[in-house]
Amino acid sequence: MLVLLLACFPVPSADAKPAAPPPAPPVPSMGEVVRLHMSQHLASAIITRDSVIHGNVSVAREQLSWMANHEEPEPLMDSGRVWVEALHSAARAGYQGYTVKEYGLAVGREGAACAGCHESLKAPLSQVTSTRPAAPKGHADLSTWAINSMWTGLIANSDAAWSAGAGALSSLPTDAAGYAVGMPGPAASAALVTLKEQSGAAKAASDRVARGEAFGQVVAACGSCHAEVGAISPHH
Ligand code: HEC
Ligand code: HEC
Repeated sequence: MLVLLLACFPVPSADAKPAAPPPAPPVPSMGEVVRLHMSQHLASAIITRDSVIHGNVSVAREQLSWMANHEEPEPLMDSGRVWVEALHSAARAGYQGYTVKEYGLAVGREGAACAGCHESLKAPLSQVTSTRPAAPKGHADLSTWAINSMWTGLIANSDAAWSAGAGALSSLPTDAAGYAVGMPGPAASAALVTLKEQSGAAKAASDRVARGEAFGQVVAACGSCHAEVGAISPHH
């Protein structure tokens, strides 16, 4: 018996190194866990935003439902619970609605909650945006840039990015012809009125709550015109 045991545990000789322990799986730092989770937040909010712009309510609703119901990593619950709750409840109120406007407002309010947490936890966020297209081709080019800059400005609490994007909205056409829409129906006409009003509101908005509301109104206006004129194919 003893012999057998000894055979199983060879006596280390002077020059034999102890066997290397198996490499430990890398332990993610709290920062990494949070950053990884943030890329999911960002992806979901951007899909929601772009689906609203495309007038694709079913995808927007699906994403709002994910945002409302998903689990947040522990470190965020410890340090930013009120903002987590604000984020989830903005999404929940949104997916309980039915209209592109409700979904648009929900994504704007999500953005305001993201911003609130980033500010209160002093989260380092990139505020870099691309430069405004010098010669935009049609409204799609300029407004896509404007929406991106406003979104960055909103979630990263960047006045410069927000103002640049909000300012660009006022260079968008104000009549249906400017959007190559010949006979605007009620949704397209209402969208044009909303866009004009909200580009003013967006420029004036200096806090994240007002910015989130203006952002939501703007993307909903884009989406309600697109849905009515069938501008964008549903698989976008
Ligand atoms: C409860 C607090 C909280 C909420 C809510 C929150 N964030 Fe964050 N976010 C953080 C913290 C903390 C960091 C910094 C993480 C780090 O660098 O360690 C961060 C970082 C980020 C980053 C930078 C990630 C990187 O790799 O540098 C992005 C992008 C981001 N958040 C997007 C969002 C979006 C979009 C939302 C809303 C849909 C959101 N966050 C909601 C706390 C929050
Ligand atoms: C009055 C109606 C109307 C409004 C308001 C409107 N659009 Fe459009 N949009 C159109 C039409 C029509 C098209 C298709 C023809 C074209 O590309 O110009 C289009 C196309 C687009 C495209 C190209 C889609 C693709 O898949 O290639 C993008 C991007 C876009 N719009 C973004 C926006 C954004 C962002 C807003 C809000 C700031 C907006 N639009 C507001 C009518 C509108």
